[in-house]
Amino acid sequence: MKHSKTLVFCCTGSDCKKSGGKSLRKELKESAKSGDIKGNVKLIRTQCMDMCKSAPVVIVGDHFCKKATLDVVLSQINKP
Ligand code: FES
Repeated sequence: MKHSKTLVFCCTGSDCKKSGGKSLRKELKESAKSGDIKGNVKLIRTQCMDMCKSAPVVIVGDHFCKKATLDVVLSQINKP
């Protein structure tokens, strides 16, 4: 099934939270509400994905972002 929005999975496990995942998710939520990715993404919270060494972990579509930052995630979302 093809989803019209880009699916963005944010880990909310404790290691990712500690490594900045919590604020990253907040920033992504803000961007999804009013930024340039408005209406294009669906944010999904996940439990620990067992990749804690790469925290914070964000998966954009089928791309796995290690030590994710807002810039990296946004550029991945905006990739054609
Ligand atoms: S806490 Fe995020 S992958 Fe384990």
